[in-house]
Amino acid sequence: MARSAIINVMVQAAMKAGRSLSRDFGEVQNLQVSLKGPGDYVSQADRRAEDIVYTELSKARPGYAFLMEERGAVDGADDQHRWIVDPLDGTTNFLHGIPVFAISIALERQGQLVAGVVYNPVMDELYTAERGGGAFMNDRRLRVAARTRLSDAVIGCGIPHLGRGHHGNFLVELRNVMGEAAGVRRLGSAALDLAYVAAGRMDGYWETGLSAWDVAAGLLLVREAGGFASEPDGGQDMLESGNVVAGNEAIHRALVNTLSKPVSSR
Ligand code: IPD
Ligand code: CA
Ligand code: CA
Ligand code: CA
Repeated sequence: MARSAIINVMVQAAMKAGRSLSRDFGEVQNLQVSLKGPGDYVSQADRRAEDIVYTELSKARPGYAFLMEERGAVDGADDQHRWIVDPLDGTTNFLHGIPVFAISIALERQGQLVAGVVYNPVMDELYTAERGGGAFMNDRRLRVAARTRLSDAVIGCGIPHLGRGHHGNFLVELRNVMGEAAGVRRLGSAALDLAYVAAGRMDGYWETGLSAWDVAAGLLLVREAGGFASEPDGGQDMLESGNVVAGNEAIHRALVNTLSKPVSSR
């Protein structure tokens, strides 16, 4: 499969940052780590990876704006394009030596997601998607899972933690999903959660309180793999709200219904 020029640019940036993360992952105990807030860590590895992505993307497409987790918003001369970047999604895993983390890069054109790349350097799994062009893992076409019943489904989620003050309805939601799904998983990287839904490894996923950089690339992967994503109330402002439910059509619908039920008796 021939990749487009823009996907090539994103892949190059993601893989270069991936090499940096892999080196740092091998020496994780020597990294400088600081706290941004309770339970919210940032390390030299996050910043180094972000610098690489920023440099590579700015070189390839001068003038595009950025929204990056560590740098925040960076204006560009070009007001049509914006990169949305999480240089290390899964910092807590990374700092604990758990090899589940990824780089996530998305491109918006006129406010619409048009390209996304998620790269897990430990597994060497590269997920790419372009609007209207399908989703791929290492050049293999992806399709969301075909299971239609929650009782057969493995569902990913995020678990609120220290610093995520109000936990919303998480425990109610979890009890409802636990009572109906074949299994529930927590990977610790929202970008990979969505990539796994796109790849059909997980049948569905929900999480609230995320940021645009956690989900932008993953949402495009899910859509381009034939899946559905929305906010729990059906809205489409996932990048603003950070609240996401995803799956194939049937599982997405079932999850939306299940999440909003009062506490399950099962
Ligand atoms: C985190 C991961 C995690 C999610 C957290 C995010 P970070 O991103 O995506 O899965 O549950 O809420 O903050 O901080 O490791 O980039
Ligand atoms: Ca973070
Ligand atoms: Ca993240
Ligand atoms: Ca991050």
